[in-house]
Amino acid sequence: MGRHNFVSIKDFSPDEIRYLLDLAREMKAHPWAHAGVLKGKTLAMIFEKPSLRTRVSFDVGIQQLGGFSLYLSNAEINLGKRESVYDVGKNLERMVQAIMIRTYAHHIVERMAEYASIPVINGLTDYSHPCQAMADYLTIQELKGEVAGLKVAFVGDGNNVCHSLMFAGAQLGAHVWVATPPGYGPVAEAVEWALRRGAQTGGTCTLTYDPVAAAADADVIYTDVWASMGHEAEAEERRKVFAPYQVNAGLFRHARYDALFMHCLPAHRGDEVTDEVIDSAHSVVYQQAENRLHTQKAILLELMQYREVPETAPLREMAPVFSDFEI
Ligand code: CP
Ligand code: NVA
Repeated sequence: MGRHNFVSIKDFSPDEIRYLLDLAREMKAHPWAHAGVLKGKTLAMIFEKPSLRTRVSFDVGIQQLGGFSLYLSNAEINLGKRESVYDVGKNLERMVQAIMIRTYAHHIVERMAEYASIPVINGLTDYSHPCQAMADYLTIQELKGEVAGLKVAFVGDGNNVCHSLMFAGAQLGAHVWVATPPGYGPVAEAVEWALRRGAQTGGTCTLTYDPVAAAADADVIYTDVWASMGHEAEAEERRKVFAPYQVNAGLFRHARYDALFMHCLPAHRGDEVTDEVIDSAHSVVYQQAENRLHTQKAILLELMQYREVPETAPLREMAPVFSDFEI
């Protein structure tokens, strides 16, 4: 595939997304078939927000491929404050072979990808969560076969997870419905992109304020927390606004008899989803979580396998040519 970064689902063609999902399925079926392929290679993981699944799945994934990971929190690098994104990227490219980054503003990941000469992977920003969407659609493929033509309903906050679900759904020809309270919908640019890509793949993207309209005959009902990381101060206010969007048995009854319940986790049980739904036979949340490992192993393999670890420092670095530039 020859891709350098994994920053957004939008950067890929539908065929490339399908290729990565096929590779992930193969790697899940044969977890040790690629053992040692990334021997001696290191993934730096920058976390500006907490994580369970992303951290563990990248950590275990790179180890299963023979590489190492390095956990860097705010306490170490304090990105953009202790040191600029540019300098962090230019330092890390000398010592590691790829960077995974979880941060707030999406442009930080884009800038890191622009500055660093090594692959950069988006581990969640305020705008998107592409690794999550890959695991989500692998799960849907496993349980439903073909994604194209399915009705995938996202009910709740039009957030990062919602955006990536829309993008990947458009790539794979799904009918994605998004039900949010007024003022909490996905950003217009994301909707426009999904509509444009959907026009090529047969996918659609429909926005509504009515959770029942989204849930009606859905193959999948997906929800996420009402207050994402960074919005904790709004949690109380959001709890009131989002109450009619809770995924409970009453709402779930509108979906198909064989509908899946999905959630990226962590879940706030009793808020966006009730125990009766998340613990029901329809719920596939732990399969989704496991599939983070398999899809990210495919991404790591694709981005890192042909990137050599230098054995010696290039000689030119020892003799700068000052006459080439003036300050
Ligand atoms: N779904 C997900 O990204 O989980 P973490 O925040 O625990 O990584
Ligand atoms: N929307 C959530 C997803 C967590 C995996 C957040 O950003 O906090």
